[in-house]
Amino acid sequence: MGRRFLVALGGAVLALSLAACSGEGAGSGDDKSADKPGDLTIGVSMPTQTSERWIADGNAVKQKLEAKGYKVELQYAGDDIPTQSQQVDQMITQGADVLVIAAIDGTALNSQLQAAADAKIPVISYDRLIRGSKNVDFYVSFDNYKVGVAQATSLLVGLGLQNKDGSKGTAKGPFNVELFAGSLDDNNTQYFFGGAMDTLKPFIDAGTLKVKSGQTKIEQVAILRWQQEAAQKRMEDLLTSSYNDGAKVDGVLSPYDGISRGIITALQNAGYGSASKKIPVVTGQDAEIASIKLINDGVQNSTVFKDTRLLAEQAVNAAEAFLQKKQPQANDTKTYDNGVKVVPSYLLPIATVYKDDIKATLIDSGYWTAEEVAAGQAKK
Ligand code: GAL
Repeated sequence: MGRRFLVALGGAVLALSLAACSGEGAGSGDDKSADKPGDLTIGVSMPTQTSERWIADGNAVKQKLEAKGYKVELQYAGDDIPTQSQQVDQMITQGADVLVIAAIDGTALNSQLQAAADAKIPVISYDRLIRGSKNVDFYVSFDNYKVGVAQATSLLVGLGLQNKDGSKGTAKGPFNVELFAGSLDDNNTQYFFGGAMDTLKPFIDAGTLKVKSGQTKIEQVAILRWQQEAAQKRMEDLLTSSYNDGAKVDGVLSPYDGISRGIITALQNAGYGSASKKIPVVTGQDAEIASIKLINDGVQNSTVFKDTRLLAEQAVNAAEAFLQKKQPQANDTKTYDNGVKVVPSYLLPIATVYKDDIKATLIDSGYWTAEEVAAGQAKK
């Protein structure tokens, strides 16, 4: 009896406190639109500082929100899942009004998201879709399938099988290529690899591209946490196991600049990069400054540029809409099913960057300066 009473009482207390939080109680002040920006805090949870793109993302979101007068709590989780869970928990208990999260593992934050929903805190999934939770309110990203298509296309262009305008190139092949994918716990990985493989498959089927290692399944080629060192190790292993008969690698599909640099280091250590042993065509993503220098120097073939300034702007627009009790404007309401629901999304366009595009796409737009490109390092 006593126990049942306590449970019932507990339920009533919970219901009362939820009502107070949700503004359903009399005169509650949950209508954020009435609050001044200075009274509102946006929690921004980023995965890691080892990749400079996430530093740029974090800074851009913070600066844009602060310019509008909001308070920002920005945290990096060092690519450690428990750390990110704990940081998000803390943002919730400290009363964040909106959360912007780029998850390390797209399925690991479900209990945090439930706590956010219970406290009526809208959650914006930033670049990487959080999966398996109904409590993801909005997604800002790029067209991730097209990123994969662009990466594969730049591999074909680099090998001379295709021209930049999409017409057939003059090269005949066959070419030896190896494939890499990102971290399997990142929802984007499937889109990147899917788009790339749809593009490469006809060439593989025709025998124009040969994956000499035979490793073509995503589970075989994925790199946990997108780590440069792990990519270098896998490339070294591939060279030892599949290219010890004198055969040369002609191209490598890489999904991200950090992975590309690991691959390039392994290739250079094995003697690639001379007139007699040309460096293979290596793709990338994110336009990281170290890779832009490599592209400028003719070492890396290309990257896919995703303007983090625009992504940050969309995250800020979405956060502001939620704070004003509006729905953010989506431009895609079909593609991003997180396993529980289709999450309304705002997807931004991408651009392939070869050496010739560095000036127009990156320098003229102010993303990197000519000095930074020459140095291969971001100026602080
Ligand atoms: C992905 C992201 C890529 C790249 C990668 C590694 O989620 O979409 O642009 O940054 O993570 O950080």
